[in-house]
Amino acid sequence: RFDENTVIVVFGASGDLAKKKTFPALFGLYREGRLAGSTKIIGFARSDLSDQGLRERITPFLSYDKTKQAHVKALEEFLALCSYHRSAYDKPDGFEALEKKVDELDAASGVAQSHRLYYLALPPSVFTVVATNLKKYCYPGSKGHARLIVEKPFGHDLDSSRQLQRDLAPLWSEDELFRIDHYLGKEMVKNLIPVRFSNTCLGSSWNNRYIDSIQITFKETFGTEGRGGYFDSIGIIRDVMQNHLLQVLTLLLMDKPKDFGSESIRDEKVKLLKAIEPIDVHDILVGQYSRSADGSKPAYLDDDTVTPNSRAITFAAIALKVHNDTWDGVPVILKAGKALDESKVEIRIQFKPVHTGIYENSARNELVIRIQPDEAMYLKMNIKVPGVANQVSISELDLTYKDRYSSEFYIPQAYESLIKDCLEDDHSNFVRDDELDVSWKLFTPLLQYLEGPNGPQPALYPYGSRGPDGLADFVKKHGYVYEPRDRYQWPLATPEGINPSKF
Ligand code: BG6
Repeated sequence: RFDENTVIVVFGASGDLAKKKTFPALFGLYREGRLAGSTKIIGFARSDLSDQGLRERITPFLSYDKTKQAHVKALEEFLALCSYHRSAYDKPDGFEALEKKVDELDAASGVAQSHRLYYLALPPSVFTVVATNLKKYCYPGSKGHARLIVEKPFGHDLDSSRQLQRDLAPLWSEDELFRIDHYLGKEMVKNLIPVRFSNTCLGSSWNNRYIDSIQITFKETFGTEGRGGYFDSIGIIRDVMQNHLLQVLTLLLMDKPKDFGSESIRDEKVKLLKAIEPIDVHDILVGQYSRSADGSKPAYLDDDTVTPNSRAITFAAIALKVHNDTWDGVPVILKAGKALDESKVEIRIQFKPVHTGIYENSARNELVIRIQPDEAMYLKMNIKVPGVANQVSISELDLTYKDRYSSEFYIPQAYESLIKDCLEDDHSNFVRDDELDVSWKLFTPLLQYLEGPNGPQPALYPYGSRGPDGLADFVKKHGYVYEPRDRYQWPLATPEGINPSKF
C-alpha cells in the first residue's frame, strides 16, 4: 500500500486532463482524508511554470465548500503539497533532475525513500519515452514501490495496441501498470458487481431465459468543439465504445467470479469478451452531426481543425451477440453519440413478456440503471391500478440515489475512486493487457471497414437531435420493444403523486 510517504508525479501537468481531472481528483481525496499529509505531488510538463503558477492554474478546478473551514484548510494544505518540475519528455537530464528533487523532498521530511505513483496524463506519442526514462532514472528499486498510471488511448487498433504493450512490458510489469478507464470508477459501474451478485432475484433471472434485450447508451449534448483535431482520427467508437461502454458490458454480463479479487474479476471479463461474436459490419448505424435545426450550433465539419469532408463518426449504434449458454440470443446494443438531445449514460435490461396473462398488454419488466447524471436504478413493474379499476398499469420500483441517500454520503468522482484504488494497489477496476487485446480484436475489423475506401458515408443528424433517422428501427430490429410514450414516461410521479388520468 502507498498510504504514507508517496510522491505522485503528474505528467502533462499543464494540460487539460491534469487540470480538469487529475489534480481535482487528488484534491478530492485529500479533502476527504484519503490522501496522507506526507504525500508530495509534483506536476511535470514542458511549459514554463513556477510552483505558484501550477497552483494558480489548478485552483479554479478544485471543488470545495467555501463555507466549510475544514475545506478551506484542506485547500491550503493541498496546494502546499504541490510543486512543479519543468522538463521535456525525452531528455534524460529532466528525469535525473526529477529524481534529485524527490530525494530533496524526502530528505526535507526525513523520509529515507518514498513510493512513487507516476500518472501519465499524456498523449500516447510520448508514453513509451516517458515510461523508459522513468524506469531508467526514477525507479526506486527495492527501496519503494513504483506504479505507472496510463490513460487511454491504449493504441489506435490491434497492431498499435500490441506495439505499445511490447514497448511497455519489458519496463513495467503488469502489476506495476494501471491502465485507467474512468468509467470503471463511476459509482453505478462499481455497483454492477454488488447488485448482480448479492441479489438472488436478479441473479436468477440474469440470463437468456428471462432477458430479451440489453442496451447500453451514452449520450452527450455537446459536440467535439475544441477537440475536433483530436477526435477526427479517433471517432466515437474508439473514444467511448471500445473502452467505456465495453467495460460496462463486461461487468454487466460476465459470470460470477470465483472470488472478488482483481485477477478473478478480470479473468471473467476476458472470458466474456472472448465470447462476443465478430461484429457484422453491415448491421450498424453510424452518423455525424450536422448543423442544429435552428442553425445556432455548428456541424462537425464546420470545425476548422477537422479534415474537409471527414467521414469521422460522431454517433454509432452496434448490436453485439454474446455466444455462450447464458446470453445466446440476447442482442446487446451499444449506442454512443455526441451533439444529441440530452446527456445521459444508462443501461436498459428488457425482460421477456409474460406469456399468457389475464391482463392484456401488460408491459415488459425493464431494469434501468442510470450511470449519470443522477445515479438511479428503477425497475418497471406491472401493478394493479390503485382503486376500483381491475386493470394493470406500469409503475416502478425506484431507487434514485439523491432521494434515498442524504448528501452526507459522499460519492467520489470516478478519478478519485480510481486513484484511491492505485494507492491501495487494487487492480480490479483497471484494464488488464489481455482484456485490452480482446477488445481491440473485436473492434479493429469494424474500424478498418468504416475507415477503408468502401466505408459508408455516416448519416447526418442535426446537432441536438436524438440521432440519425433509422435509430428507432435499428433498436427495434434488435429486439427492444418501445412502450408507447402515453403509457409510460419516467418519472411518472408528480409531487402530488401519480396522476390517475394517465391510466
Ligand atoms: C472521454 C472521452 O474518455 O470520456 C470524451 O474522450 C467523453 O469524448 C468523456 O466526453 C465522457 O466522460 P464522462 O465522465 O463525462 O461521461
